[in-house]
Amino acid sequence: MPNVTGNFDPVATAEKGTYWQPFTASRVLQANPVPRTLVSAKGAYYQTLDGNKVFDTLSGLWCTPLGHGHPLIAEAVKAQVEKLDFAPCFQLTHEGALSLAQRIADMAPDGMNHVFFANSGSEAVDTALKVALGYHRLKGAGNRFRMIGRERGYHGVGFGGMSVGGILSNRKMFAAGMMPGVDHLRHTYEPKHMAFTRGQPTWGTHRAEDLVRLVTLHDASTIAAVIVEPIQGSTGVIVPPLGYLERLREICTQHGILLIFDEVITGFGRMGAPFAAQRFGVKPDIITFAKAVTNGVVPMGGVIVTDEIYKTFMTGPQSAIEFCHGYTYSGHPLAAAVGHVVLDVMESEGLFERARALEPVLEDAAHSLKGLKNIADIRNIGLTAAVELEPAEAGAGVRGTAVFEEGLRQGLLLRVTGDIISFGPPFISTEQELKDMMLTLRNVIEAVG
Ligand SMILES: Cc1ncc(COP(=O)(O)O)c(C=O)c1O
Repeated sequence: MPNVTGNFDPVATAEKGTYWQPFTASRVLQANPVPRTLVSAKGAYYQTLDGNKVFDTLSGLWCTPLGHGHPLIAEAVKAQVEKLDFAPCFQLTHEGALSLAQRIADMAPDGMNHVFFANSGSEAVDTALKVALGYHRLKGAGNRFRMIGRERGYHGVGFGGMSVGGILSNRKMFAAGMMPGVDHLRHTYEPKHMAFTRGQPTWGTHRAEDLVRLVTLHDASTIAAVIVEPIQGSTGVIVPPLGYLERLREICTQHGILLIFDEVITGFGRMGAPFAAQRFGVKPDIITFAKAVTNGVVPMGGVIVTDEIYKTFMTGPQSAIEFCHGYTYSGHPLAAAVGHVVLDVMESEGLFERARALEPVLEDAAHSLKGLKNIADIRNIGLTAAVELEPAEAGAGVRGTAVFEEGLRQGLLLRVTGDIISFGPPFISTEQELKDMMLTLRNVIEAVG
């Protein structure tokens, strides 16, 4: 068997496409895999196969706020494998999952005291959608089957998440597999009204009234839930207009529709608060989470629900399973152990406060690029930002790809989707690193032209 130290050639293997990669332009990667092959990571930096040290501008994929190679996480993984490496959580339980659920419930908005574990954001979203359907059915409102998502939303790649999602490229190939009864709100991004806004735009609150239109069209008695990301992350950091989330909450409450906040990116400090729900002062009925909860080291996702939802499920015969849903690895002991360390470190190092304190630094650094050639927009909130480039004449995404490649050469691992560069740096970044990140980006954009 080939191994990394022996006769295994990662470059030749990458060139062949043996590893069919997720969300990847495979033929671009295969043509030049070396600069894109990561070999190690420490703190806020990755090392590539060609020896380049690159700053991790998106905390992996929004999931490593503590940086890489944290010694306490490494210790916890080893100790947990030695103590309890796997525990079936169907009809059984264990201390790690119990205590992590308690801890997450304690951080969640008041009255949200029940946590269901999954292994990814996609699973968390599909779980949330099932909870919503089950809840209404148990309430005698099984005709509430519709789900309302939002244009440009990203809710993972399960059939449910894909259906409520609103990114064309993720939908068109699988159109035949869409969940029935899904409709979408319009997104809130209109550059002519909000380009170069710092924080929440003042324009766009009225887009929440789309929900009223959908209620008028479908009737509330057919609608189970509305699912939105408080900040639309994957599509390139679209910040909710002032009052928008509040208005969605109002309309949902008025019509008995559940409000789901997909906090897979925003959960666990990215907004300088445990959840975006607290940052914006809007309490949903269901929160999904994943990513940062385990600092990306062991996959974990989950769903937090209100006491009312949980109580509704706890009916029927005593011996019956109330929610026929779950994953072999729901509440995995390793993920739970890592989750505890992550929350310990976030607490002991005051990382939510740190994220909040870094917010104006990132904001100033990002907006300092205003006026540079080919920049269409800059936006930010919490420890996130996006720099949107004008598409090149050669086509959408061409300039973005060139910026990504030049970024690697100049020491930045950039997250580019189309022509939008999204930023979600680690909470452990220094102020200087965030300033340097944007100074380097300036050079990168100038070099690409
Ligand atoms: C808001 C949101 N929901 C769901 C997901 C899917 O998460 P995963 O890739 O872990 O399935 C993502 C991933 O970026 C996300 O940003």
